[in-house]
Amino acid sequence: MRTVTKDTLTQAFLDCCDPDTDPRLHHVLERLVHHLHAFAREVDLTHDEWRTGLRLLTEAAAFTTPERNEFVLFSDVLGLSSLVDMINTPDAATSSSVLGPFHILGAPPLPVGGDLKGDNVGDTVVVEGQVLDTAGRPIPGAMLELWQTAANGLYSNQDEAQSDWNLRGCMTLGDDGRYLFSTVRPIAYTVPDDGPVGALLHATGRHPWRPGHHHVIVQAEGFQPLVTELFPDDDPYLDEDAVFGVRSDLVIHYTRTEERTALPPDLLAAATLEPPFHLVRFDFKLQAEA
Ligand code: BEZ
Ligand code: FE
Repeated sequence: MRTVTKDTLTQAFLDCCDPDTDPRLHHVLERLVHHLHAFAREVDLTHDEWRTGLRLLTEAAAFTTPERNEFVLFSDVLGLSSLVDMINTPDAATSSSVLGPFHILGAPPLPVGGDLKGDNVGDTVVVEGQVLDTAGRPIPGAMLELWQTAANGLYSNQDEAQSDWNLRGCMTLGDDGRYLFSTVRPIAYTVPDDGPVGALLHATGRHPWRPGHHHVIVQAEGFQPLVTELFPDDDPYLDEDAVFGVRSDLVIHYTRTEERTALPPDLLAAATLEPPFHLVRFDFKLQAEA
């Protein structure tokens, strides 16, 4: 080991791992260290740069709380979260997209046809569709979890002015896999940029904006869960999402109408919602468990 050089250090690391290490752990670690060492050699990493990297990670730890994980945000803005999503999305299923830090477990039940908009200011949006398998058959008894920002671009857990479960709900679907809800149009907002991730964005001339989106988790017995987002097609940030979450199959088009008669008959708040209405249909496709 004392004869180790910059060219043999990677192999020296590999040689000191127990050959009985779990094979997947051994493989992932081996490739990680291989690329990490190759990266340092390739850019001739200086001590100053190495220290800067460690300082950013240390600051990320200081910014991390149960409500905000700066490490996840680093993964998001570097594109790693989306790359992992893409690697793990089955071809025939709806694309997955970032979960983000604002999801809370335990959202209140919302019936099929239910309303999330309530007193929220903003345009009325009505979303309907079905949860299907990859052959296009309805999946009975699926569960849909929904959350989004209010008109000020904030989630309920970022904003004391909103009630705890504002714009959040959990819908259990029937045998036809059909879902339907009314809500407010989501608008573009910025990811938190007052910490080390923000410093990195600003240093590289990037903005922190995400296009408006509806967050959705779809789960059904015997199928791979889907964590995804739906993005209105007229959002100015659609092609410059700070966290690379947009996929073409997740872009939706709202059809605008003033006509109350255009609303689905089983929309529970149909009589009280204010026009104009923005209607959209989107079907989610889930991949069966192997
Ligand atoms: C979000 O969509 O809620 C989100 C995703 C990644 C980083 C920050 C926020
Ligand atoms: Fe979001």
